[in-house]
This record gives sequence, C-alpha cells and structure tokens, in this order.
Amino acid sequence: MKINFDYVKQYQTISSLEQQMLNEIYKKLEKKESMLDWLDIESCISSSELEEMKKISYGIRKFCDIFLVIGIGGSYLGSRAVLESLSPYFSKKKPEIIFAGHQLSGSYLKELLDYMEGKSVYVNVISKSGETLETMASFHMIYGWMKKTYSDVQKRVIVTIGDSSRGDSSSSLKKLADKEQLKTWIIPSEIGGRYSVFTVAGLFPLVVSGIDIDEFIKGAQSKRNCFSESSQYALVRKHLEERGKIVEAFTIYEEKLSFLAAWYQQLFAETQGKNQKGILPIINPNTTNLHSLGQYLQDGRRITFETVLQIKNTKDINLENERISMNELNHLVLNQVANAHSYGGTPSIIIALEELSPFEIGGLLYFLEVSAAIGGYLLEIDPFNQPGVEIYKQRVKEELKSIQKNKGKN
Ligand code: PA5
Repeated sequence: MKINFDYVKQYQTISSLEQQMLNEIYKKLEKKESMLDWLDIESCISSSELEEMKKISYGIRKFCDIFLVIGIGGSYLGSRAVLESLSPYFSKKKPEIIFAGHQLSGSYLKELLDYMEGKSVYVNVISKSGETLETMASFHMIYGWMKKTYSDVQKRVIVTIGDSSRGDSSSSLKKLADKEQLKTWIIPSEIGGRYSVFTVAGLFPLVVSGIDIDEFIKGAQSKRNCFSESSQYALVRKHLEERGKIVEAFTIYEEKLSFLAAWYQQLFAETQGKNQKGILPIINPNTTNLHSLGQYLQDGRRITFETVLQIKNTKDINLENERISMNELNHLVLNQVANAHSYGGTPSIIIALEELSPFEIGGLLYFLEVSAAIGGYLLEIDPFNQPGVEIYKQRVKEELKSIQKNKGKN
C-alpha cells in the first residue's frame, strides 16, 4: 500500500502543538486505553476461535445453498466490504452469501423469504448490543421461518453477540440464543462495531464464503506499526477540514469496492462526525460519477477533497484497435481526474494497493481504523461512541411503545 500526498503538500505541515497531541495519542494507543483492543489482532480473535470457525464453516459449506448474514452498521459492513471487494463480479458460487437486517424494507424481506424457499439456508445474526431494531425485526421473522422449515435449526443458526459477562448487557438476542441453545460467537467488549471486522463479527461470514482470512489477518498484522503513516493521513484530513474542505469524496475506480467505500464512510462518519465537527464522507464511484458528481467536484463549492483508492493490478482486457488496455485507460483517467480536480480546488490523496487480495485489503482496513481513531483524538472527541445514532432510536422506541399501548386498548 502506498499513499500519494503530492496534491495536498501544503496541508502536511505539522505544528508543535499537534506533535505534542500526537505523542499523547501514541501513548493512549500503546497503553490500549478504553475501546482500543482492536489494535491487537490477538485480542480480536484467538487461534482456537479461528480453528473452530474453519471447522464449523467447512460443515456449513458442504450443505448450504444460502448463508444469510443479518446485521447492520459495524455488524455487517466489514464482512460485506471485504467479501464484495474480493469476489468476482459474476459468479454462481455456493454458498450464496446474502445480507439482511441492514434496512427495514418489507418487500426485501418478503422477496428474500420467497427466494429461500426450497433451498438449504444457514443464518448468522450479528449484533453486539443484541437489541438493534433492524437486525432484530429481520431476525425474528427469519428465525420463525427457519423453525417452520427445518428440524435442525440449532445447527443452522449462529448468533454473534456482545460479551454479557464483560458488561455488554444481557440482551433479548442473548436470551433467545440461550433459550434455544444456539451456537454463539462473542465479540470482545472493548471493540466497537465499526472496529470489529477482525473479530468473529467480520470474520465468520468471510470464512464461510471461502475468503482466505489468514492472509486477511496477516495483512492487518503487517500494519501494526502504521501509527506514523496513519497520523499523516489523519493530519492532512484535519488540515483540509480546518481550511473549509468539509466534504470528502471517497473515490473508487472499481465497482466491487462500493461496499468498501460504504465501510469507509461509516468508519469515519461515526468516529469523527460529532460535537459539530468532522468531515462528511461521501461515496464516489468512478468513472460512473464523472458524469454526475464530477461536475460538482471540479466546479462546485470549494468545500471538497477526495481520497482516491487505486488498485494497480487487476484482471484486464485489451481494447480493440487501441494500444492500451481497459485498466490502463482506467488508471489514465484516475490520474488525469486527480490532476484536473486538484487544479480546480478539490485536491486528491491517492491510496494505491498493488492488487485486490485479502492481504492488501486487511492492511488497508487496519491502516484506516488507526487513522480514523487518531483523527478522532486530534478533534478531541471520543472516537468510539455514537451518541447521534441514539437519538432517533429513542424516538422510534417511544413511538412503538405508544402504538402498542393504543393497540392494547382497542
Ligand atoms: O459502529 C457501531 O458501533 C455501530 O455502527 C453498530 O455496529 C451498529 O449500530 C449495530 O449495532 P449492533 O451490533 O449492536 O447491532
């Protein structure tokens, strides 16, 4: 992985106050203060869990047509991002991995249940709190269907949940898992959702899908000493924000990276978007968006910058009658757009990966997690809470309560 800061050189200078802040931040990271267990992969996942996951998934893969992953936010985006980035565009591979519980569409659920009819379905429901509305609404529906459809539900449903013995509350999902004696994986309590891709939450669906998670983990471990590189990225983003660049387009040139961009968006928005601070990250798939958002980035309000993700080597095809391949053309456009947008006042930071491999993606995600956390500390906010997400949840809860009360009266 290489980062090119050429277009943002003027945002790289570091003040002595910032250097002091960084020294303090490094101490926090070294000490692994609260919610920092994700920094050590060994604290995310044990070797015995890895072995057990592989064993269980071997059995599942033999008999499974559809592996359904139910979860939202940090309990789904990590595995989806990695899975989509590393899977072929067109494939009929089994098991088919399908995601649910990441929204509240009735038609999605209805069509999903119809689609699952007659197929061998296994489910992994993932929720650290064990209470999340979208996850639980979908899971209850699907679990009911599983019970009606199969006699061996206990083998088919796996629950990934927070550690109730370490303070994560004993939730309704935990109670159900205990009552029904379902296999459970435990997400370590000192690791928040959006930092949980290297825990059972992110890894189990990946093992089932056949992704080489050993390489994925090795990639993350190779970045264990990335603090200085991650702070460089965090500092440049901070300086851009201070000078009015408050919208960041996370730009991709390979469509299968869309969910990686969504993971990036969640990581940075939920980590840093608080106390009226933080950059708004938006997902920008190119070259598609050159015919859409591209106009704004080149020529609209000067509040934007880009983080561009480049994959150097991918499968390729030669263009007919041209002396250039399709990927060479894609890279040519990427470089010229970065140049043109920077010239227009939307500077680019380019992160280049050699290839789309589990190792490279593991390294990238770890690097970004470290940078998001450091950036959060630089903004003097708590990188690991998400108080803004709670407010709507409370309103929904109250409204649901009052609807149920009124129904009870009728
Ligand atoms: O990053 C986070 O903490 C959140 O995005 C959560 O992952 C998300 O809200 C889902 O929470 P839970 O795993 O408790 O269902």
